[in-house]
Amino acid sequence: MNQDDLKRLVGTAALDYVKADSVIGVGTGSTVNCFIEALINSGLRIEAAVSSSEATTRLLEAGGIQVVDLNQTGGLDVYIDGADEFDAHRRLIKGGGGALTREKIVAAASKKFVCIADQSKQVKVLGTFPLPLEVIPLARSLVARRMVALGGQPEWRENFTTDNGNWILDIHNLDLVDPVDMEKTINNLAGVVTCGLFAIRPADMVLMATKDGIKLL
Ligand code: A5P
Repeated sequence: MNQDDLKRLVGTAALDYVKADSVIGVGTGSTVNCFIEALINSGLRIEAAVSSSEATTRLLEAGGIQVVDLNQTGGLDVYIDGADEFDAHRRLIKGGGGALTREKIVAAASKKFVCIADQSKQVKVLGTFPLPLEVIPLARSLVARRMVALGGQPEWRENFTTDNGNWILDIHNLDLVDPVDMEKTINNLAGVVTCGLFAIRPADMVLMATKDGIKLL
């Protein structure tokens, strides 16, 4: 089984957490794309979806799934999304695709966050994957200097603008032994819209695709 097979496996497994006629939250990325494809092909009817990105919205709508604004729905039962890294406590790094802000909002609005990922994303300590930060453009250099002071090496994701009109800094080599503390610290920096750490509010479960099947964390 290659990585694409594993993504399809876990994308399909996530259907077990979707109730018929419900409104669900849907994340962003290649693994979630497999979930969307599985959902469309399953014939399982949902009322609507709240989307975490323009890319996901396009896919959902192309598959005949209605996309609604979170302001219209109130709380959601379930949010399905991928991750760039996860640890044994289901704490995540997200934002490789740049959709971290809307992802964090929809995750916060959901009772259950089901993270879907293949085994390659599992780590002992978060931080091998550079931590994405969405920043207000005016604050790019300021936030970068603050992140250097915190021990990281920021890299501006050039030629990329988020769905919210902001920029991304990818922070390399940050010490994330205490990800909750680091998330709080970064959240307090002026100019940071969202930090790609999902540690204060981790996933409620991780469905991990392995060559031996789905494992549940
Ligand atoms: C999007 O901004 C990210 O948070 C994705 O959820 C994450 O990058 C996982 O993407 P893949 O499923 O493509 O690896």
